[in-house]
Amino acid sequence: MNTTTRINLSAPWIDERDEELVLEVLRSGWLSLGPTGPRFESMLADAVEAPHAAAVSSGTAGLHLCMRLAGVGPGDEVITSPYSFVASANCAIYEGATPVFADIDPRTFNLDPAAVEAAITPRTKALVAVDIFGYPAEYDELIALCDRHGIALVEDSCEALGARYKGRPLGSHGHPAVWAFYPNKQMTTGEGGAVTTGSAEQHELLVSLRNQGRLETSSWLQHGRLGFNYRLDDISAALGIGQLEKLDRILAARGAVAATYGELLADVDVETPLPDDENHVRSWFVYVVKLPSGVDRDAVMARLSEDGVATAPYLPSIHLQSYMR
Ligand SMILES: Cc1ncc(COP(=O)(O)O)c(C=O)c1O
Repeated sequence: MNTTTRINLSAPWIDERDEELVLEVLRSGWLSLGPTGPRFESMLADAVEAPHAAAVSSGTAGLHLCMRLAGVGPGDEVITSPYSFVASANCAIYEGATPVFADIDPRTFNLDPAAVEAAITPRTKALVAVDIFGYPAEYDELIALCDRHGIALVEDSCEALGARYKGRPLGSHGHPAVWAFYPNKQMTTGEGGAVTTGSAEQHELLVSLRNQGRLETSSWLQHGRLGFNYRLDDISAALGIGQLEKLDRILAARGAVAATYGELLADVDVETPLPDDENHVRSWFVYVVKLPSGVDRDAVMARLSEDGVATAPYLPSIHLQSYMR
């Protein structure tokens, strides 16, 4: 085993500019609700071509607030993908609703619109579509069926910052999109997330809900509604600014690594990630390969680990998690 080089699943790209920006906030003494948060939000909104961005404390917090935007409550159903991170479904449970899992398309690993339509009942209130492994879901079909059935659409783009659907960035298609900035993501703020939206009204509600239900017009100790503390602090936002400044370079570097894997795996009997087409441009998150059936996955992972290459069994389906069963 080569003990000098370990290839981790992911590592954040932090440089002197990030350090400088974080130090600036630390030295300013304005660590939360200062000017850095809005600067970060405006850069994020530009990056995904959305009119509004609200930074929050995590992607999970963003998804939870989107359940509030959609008016999800006890007795409602929220359709989502079983092949995602648990937060995509947990957000419905937080509001007393039931997640309903529609099947995925085995080609894209994203929701199959026909399966979503088949899962709709009179109780369906919202759909949480996921761009798993950075690959855009089928938004034209999903938007059309949500419109047809009067269902709110939430986009879980936590793994997909920089991806494009039909020529436009995810986040620019009008409905709320949720982003996550944990250090394994394309860019990081430590912990953190955001919700972008095309609606000024939704944005106003998000800003209030994340800040203990304060209203724009109310003073610090007045609360107009039940809210949460889902704020992102200014130290994290400063790191986010540094990350967004080099987002293009980060995405290009990840793309280059993925291309190298593609070349190296060309003669290996595994199914490599679905290539882009004119409607779908992936943002590289994890590089997931499918082994031929009958191959011992754990043995392959153990062998890679001996060589210092980290892997993970992406992705245990949500409906099979013990608490979900
Ligand atoms: C698809 C998806 N949704 C939601 C989340 C939740 O984000 P966070 O960990 O910031 O709460 C993640 C992060 O792992 C994710 O991959």
